Amino acid sequence: MRLIIDTDTAGDDVFSLMLALRRPDVTVEAITISHGNVGFEQHAENALVTLEACGRAGEVPVYMGAQRPFTRQPLDAAYVFGADGMSDAAFPRTTQRPAPGHAADEIVRRVMKAPGEITLIAQAPLTNIALAYLREPRIAQAVKHLWIMGGTDNGVGNVTPAAEYNLYVDPEAAKIVVNAGFPMTIVTWTETLRDGLLDLEQLAALDALGTSRARFFTQVNKASLAFAQETEHLDGSLHPDALTCALALDERLILEAEMAVVDVETMGELTRGYLSVSNHILPDIEVADPALKRRPPNARVIKRIDRDGFYQALRNALL
Ligand code: RIB
Ligand code: CA
Repeated sequence: MRLIIDTDTAGDDVFSLMLALRRPDVTVEAITISHGNVGFEQHAENALVTLEACGRAGEVPVYMGAQRPFTRQPLDAAYVFGADGMSDAAFPRTTQRPAPGHAADEIVRRVMKAPGEITLIAQAPLTNIALAYLREPRIAQAVKHLWIMGGTDNGVGNVTPAAEYNLYVDPEAAKIVVNAGFPMTIVTWTETLRDGLLDLEQLAALDALGTSRARFFTQVNKASLAFAQETEHLDGSLHPDALTCALALDERLILEAEMAVVDVETMGELTRGYLSVSNHILPDIEVADPALKRRPPNARVIKRIDRDGFYQALRNALL
């Protein structure tokens, strides 16, 4: 499998990268960096540190992308991940540096060079992916599959009641991407709350592996674990990006999914970044309001996964 991962590397983004980097049958062709969780430059540092932690330093290029959303002010989530996005670990600067070239151009170049070959995982605000599509719309047909971590599935968001972070931060980009015609699967925050929690027993078992990567995991996960426990009152930590990557790497972990019509709200006063997901209990849309047009489903939305399989995938990455 050939992958490009677009990431605002901090916290769980790191574990998603680890899952892919530790699989011998997966080629991570490039890591592309977005604005998002913490400082833009820091995301690249975190991705580079992760390559080192996985014994892959110098093997995977890291490209810098969009430093801000299309029209909105940037918005970080350092309150979840610590100022450096790594639970304030202060890892030393790596020898590998970001590669020259813009992330969006690299996505276009690599996807168009190998049509039907490259799977794209988008685990940050969707600015880089939207830019890539605007530069070369044919990537929507040339990508093997686009996996998006983002939105809620008629559930509760993590920034506002309506919106999940990645879509809230750059709703205009998200709207472009979900309407672009990519073959697409979405792992929502709703699904993360359902199946993306590692409980305290699992976290202790991962730490007890005692490997350098297990220690790295425990260190990086500290801040989000504390946030989940203290603010979200959960008995463990949440792993939206790792969950997305695990499913992309092994679709057998998907137990239930539904094709849906999805779109993103950009205008709403209270619903900025809301992911609208159709549902089979809704009436045919033109019956409910003849002014609405029926649209074909444009995304697969994950509903249930093999939780133990997800845990085992993460465990294997830390061995
Ligand atoms: O809402 C979860 C997403 O936003 C993840 O990609 C995580 O990195 C975050 O801040
Ligand atoms: Ca992310």
